[in-house]
Amino acid sequence: MTSTNKLLLEAKGITKYFGTITALENVNLKVHEGECLGVVGDNGAGKSTLMKVLSGLYKPSKGALFFEGKEKVLESPKDSQILGLEMVYQDLALAGNLPIGENIFLGREPTKNIGFLKFLDFKKIQEMTNAHLDKLKINVKSADQKVEELSGGQRQAVAIARSTAFNAKVVIMDEPTAALAIKEVGKVLDLINKLKSTGVGVIVISHRMDDIFSVCDRVMALFQGTNFAEAQLDKTSRDEVIGWIMGKK
Ligand SMILES: Nc1ncnc2c1ncn2[C@@H]1O[C@H](COP(=O)(O)OP(=O)(O)OP(=O)(O)O)[C@@H](O)[C@H]1O
Ligand SMILES: [Mg+2]
Repeated sequence: MTSTNKLLLEAKGITKYFGTITALENVNLKVHEGECLGVVGDNGAGKSTLMKVLSGLYKPSKGALFFEGKEKVLESPKDSQILGLEMVYQDLALAGNLPIGENIFLGREPTKNIGFLKFLDFKKIQEMTNAHLDKLKINVKSADQKVEELSGGQRQAVAIARSTAFNAKVVIMDEPTAALAIKEVGKVLDLINKLKSTGVGVIVISHRMDDIFSVCDRVMALFQGTNFAEAQLDKTSRDEVIGWIMGKK
């Protein structure tokens, strides 16, 4: 990835108040095509709040968002999805009792009409799921398998697959490896690299330096709700980034 890649998403001067609390103050962020931006910061630094502003869950108190160069005002996460931004939440929000395919298409399922009635097209869901899982090289026994039968890594893969099933341009992941065993972490990181190679811009919030240093191209640190430091990965070190998290330069 080079800095000449197209700018997909830009946040300028984002401030967010919750009553008298200032969660974010004048924060800037950019993500380019095929780039992974790592976002780090201590507990309460404002990472999740910033991602919720980017996805339209929270309205910023000040500041503006630009998608592919055009300013957009988001009223809800639906608005950001339409623009091609998807968020993978830390708790994944999957429906354990439903099969993989239905989780991927939840709320956006293909339907077929029989007479005046609309039905979910299960065959189509299965076909589309298999094609999509194949494309991302995600191994599961069958698209019919219920999510509650999957391992943590497979669930994370399904959540990522869901976020990319609708031609996402930007995918935001909040701590995608936090709950995973080492063996599964690698698979999720491989998946992030695969997304990047298809041109998707990825934002990863993580406390794990191993994650940041194996998939990100750039890292930015928030400290007490402000931009504290930022660098290309090859221009910094784990120790320096850990220092930023603690507010040291
Ligand atoms: N809905 C809310 N109402 C009031 N205050 C909030 C709300 N959400 C977040 N905050 C406050 O905003 C600040 C930033 O919180 P945020 O959740 O963004 O931190 P974070 O960097 O994601 O932390 P963590 O690493 O613990 O997930 C904190 O002081 C938090 O208490
Ligand atoms: Mg958080």
